[in-house]
Amino acid sequence: MRYPYIRMRRLRQNSVLRSMVRETRLTVDSFVLPYFVRHGNGIREPIASMPDYFRLSIDELLKDCGEAMDLGIKSVLLFGIPERKDHHGTAACEDDGIVQTTIKALKDKYPHLLVITDVCNCEYTDHGHCGPVIDGDVHNDTTVEILARQALSHAKAGCDMVAPSDMMDGRVQQIREILDDNGFSNLPILSYAAKYASSFYSPFRDAAGTTPSFGDRKSYQMDMGNSAEALREAALDIDEGADILMVKPALAYLDIVRRIKERFEVPVAAYNVSGEYSMVKAAAAKGWLDEECSMMEILTSIRRAGADIIISYWAQKAARIING
Ligand code: PBG
Repeated sequence: MRYPYIRMRRLRQNSVLRSMVRETRLTVDSFVLPYFVRHGNGIREPIASMPDYFRLSIDELLKDCGEAMDLGIKSVLLFGIPERKDHHGTAACEDDGIVQTTIKALKDKYPHLLVITDVCNCEYTDHGHCGPVIDGDVHNDTTVEILARQALSHAKAGCDMVAPSDMMDGRVQQIREILDDNGFSNLPILSYAAKYASSFYSPFRDAAGTTPSFGDRKSYQMDMGNSAEALREAALDIDEGADILMVKPALAYLDIVRRIKERFEVPVAAYNVSGEYSMVKAAAAKGWLDEECSMMEILTSIRRAGADIIISYWAQKAARIING
C-alpha cells in the first residue's frame, strides 16, 4: 500500500489529531532544576551569560524553590559558590560549606523535595580544575579521595542523591564504598558517565567561576568524536555502582543518549547545559528565534532520544507551558 491510499498528512490535519498521535511527551516529573547557591542574604545576582538566571543566596533559593515546587518540579541539582578557594578545594568537604548548609535548609523546609548535589571540586579550587594539579595535570586518585569525602559530607547534610561530575577514573566505586561504610547504602549515585570536553559549558563557568586558569579539561572529559568510549564509560560506571547515568551535554550528543539508552537498562539523564540555554536566549534577544518554541523543541528532542531525566535551566519555564 502506498500513495494515494496512504497519506501521511491525514493525521497532521489539526492539533487534536496531532496531539493524539504524538509519540513523545514532556512531563514535569522528569525535570531537574539546577541552582547556583552563594553566601549572603537577599541576593539574586544576575548571571551575565545566562539571561534570566541567577546566583541565589539560601533565603532566595528557598523562595524560588517554593515556586518551582508549585509548578510540579520535584527535584533540584545544587552547585555551590564558596567564599574562598584553594589549591585542593578543601571548602568542598566542610560540614558548614555552602552546599551542605543549603541541603539542610532545603530539607528542613521541603522534606519531600529530592535534593541532588553536584560532586566536583572545580568550584572550590583556585585554578578551576576538578582536583589538585600535580605535575601539570589533575591527579586522578587524590581527586577521587576528595570527591568521596565531599559526597559523604553531602550525604551527612541530608541530600537525596549525589552526582559526581569530574570524570576521574574510579570515582563511582570510591563514592559507593564511602557511602556504604557510613550507613548511606540507600543513597543513589547519578554519575556523569559520558561527559564531553565541551565548549557549551562556558556560561556555566562564568556563573560558577570555574574557568580553568590554565589548560583545559581534555585530559579528563571525553573527546567529542567518540561514542564507543561513552559506552565503555557507561559500563564501567554501572559496574562501579552508578544507579543513573548521565550524558552531557545533551543537544550535540543525542546519539550518545540513544546508544546508552538502548544498550543499558539503567535510567538515563541528559544535561541540557548552559550553552544550549544561552545560545537560544541570545538569538531570541535578537529576534532571531522564538525562545519558547525552540526550548520545547530542544527538550522534546532530548526526551525523544531516550532521556528519562532532563536537567535544564528551563525547567520552570517549560513546566509552566506543560501545565498549560
Ligand atoms: C563541574 C560541572 C560543569 C558543569 C556541570 N558540572 C562544568 C565543567 O565541567 O566545566 C557544566 C554545566 C553547564 O554548562 O550547564 N565540573
